[in-house]
Amino acid sequence: MKRFDHARRQFLQAATLGSLVSLWPDLLLAGEGQKSTTITSTFKPDVEIELFARNDKVSMMSGAATDVYRYHGQLLQGPSTTLSTMPSYLGPTLNLVQGQKVRIHFHNQLAEPCITHWHGMHVPQRMDGHPMYEIAEGGTYIYEFEVKNPAGTNWYHAHTHELTAKQVYRGLAGLIVIRDEQEQQLQLPSGEYDLPIVIQDRRFTENNQLYYRQHGMHDRMTGFLGDTILINGQINPTIPVKTRAYRLRVFNGSNSRIYKLAWEDGTPLIAIGTDGALLEKPESYPYIMLAPAERVELWVDFSGREVGSALILQSLAFHGAAPSMGMRGRMGGGMEGEAMGMMSGLAQGEQFPIAKFRIAEKVSESPQLPQTLIRMKRLTDRDVSNPDRTIPIAISMAHMSWKLNGRSFEMGNVMDIEKIPVNIIQKIRIFHESHQMHGGRGGMGGGMRGGRGGGMGMMMSMAHPIHLHGQQFQILSRQLTDQQATGGYDTVNQGFINSGWKDTVLVMPGEEVTIIKPFEDYTGLYLYHCHNLEHEDLGMMRNFLVS
Ligand code: C2O
Ligand code: CU
Ligand code: CU
Repeated sequence: MKRFDHARRQFLQAATLGSLVSLWPDLLLAGEGQKSTTITSTFKPDVEIELFARNDKVSMMSGAATDVYRYHGQLLQGPSTTLSTMPSYLGPTLNLVQGQKVRIHFHNQLAEPCITHWHGMHVPQRMDGHPMYEIAEGGTYIYEFEVKNPAGTNWYHAHTHELTAKQVYRGLAGLIVIRDEQEQQLQLPSGEYDLPIVIQDRRFTENNQLYYRQHGMHDRMTGFLGDTILINGQINPTIPVKTRAYRLRVFNGSNSRIYKLAWEDGTPLIAIGTDGALLEKPESYPYIMLAPAERVELWVDFSGREVGSALILQSLAFHGAAPSMGMRGRMGGGMEGEAMGMMSGLAQGEQFPIAKFRIAEKVSESPQLPQTLIRMKRLTDRDVSNPDRTIPIAISMAHMSWKLNGRSFEMGNVMDIEKIPVNIIQKIRIFHESHQMHGGRGGMGGGMRGGRGGGMGMMMSMAHPIHLHGQQFQILSRQLTDQQATGGYDTVNQGFINSGWKDTVLVMPGEEVTIIKPFEDYTGLYLYHCHNLEHEDLGMMRNFLVS
């Protein structure tokens, strides 16, 4: 209850601010503010699941078991393939089919509030896992939605107010695999040849426990970086494969680490899907950048490789994503931001191996890579419903915390620029404000840098994976608008896939990304936020009001 009071307090405070719209009374009237705690008798589910968030222990290495949070699932009705277990602390994969009606009874058995969000899914607002719906220990939230998304790899995770980072870190995440007819016709590798690759970084104490520190100033600014890479929740697994083609569903489930994926032997990466769907056709990349929450589906063919040999998926070195914090003026010299990352033991942008595929068996048959994949409507400027109104998502920093459109998260308030009519296609421009501000209300990001008179001029800029709830979007353009902020851009810019359906986009320092996004079918509050989970919990999150 305390937490709800907090929201009410925000509402009361906001009521005195002119440009803000207070939504709580409206939402409560419309029923949107109400938690969904009972089933709808008219909703006839094809799939019904009980999902529990609970404490668990898993064995991750020799010695003591590791205390984790973990989703457990139980199928009440629907195809027997609906839930597949994942190793270690990951939740069961939800295998859904487009068009299915799904009911999920989510039970919070943790001694703290929790709510679950279906990342990438296009669902009604009350089913989206907004933090306003968090439930206390012992509570149940009923989700009911139809699977509207096309075939692709989405995921679900805790989205609890100010606890998302910690809860996801401790294990509250799982995959959602969606299939549809168009995809089935492609006959992509399936069954044991369709592999999830969930990449996460963690740190462990000497006693094998997950180490998480949330409140250090360094972690607040940059996000938490671990020094141990987990694949599907396991440390250093070797993945046995046959000499044939595979479909890899690679997902970055890390709190803030960005990966620059590449095959160790220089084989190009073949991408067949992005966050929300398959691509129109396969695309070849020397490397692919994968920021927190992003997914990429890869086609990899091990045909012709020697049994006993191995192929390693690695993360290559890159620069410019960690904050560059130039201490100028009196302080003289400079402290490179990436050096700050070193404190974690494995800096953002360092090179390291991710996963080892070992050729275990020779087979003679392998499917061929299709030349075309799905039909996709490419959205352009002509599709934008209101060409005169591009909505900004301005990234800035003030008072040692990151902001969106100049503000921190507020549970139930939106600004005018955050109001979007339902059933339109909207253009949104995501950019860094701190480099364009000149003193004034910029706080740290603008003000201090603008201070010409010397003193300690400080520039803070880093890469942010910006995520929007609701429907998937397309990337219209990426542009470098601030050459000064870009150290290292040439080490990442060949690795962005701009052609597919996305729900999360990495915005590098000095970069401006314009996206085009439908806001169809559902009204209510839909979040947009940085998916660096430490940033999100510290308030780098806002709501759009679709109405
Ligand atoms: Cu993974 Cu608000 O999202
Ligand atoms: Cu989401
Ligand atoms: Cu961020």
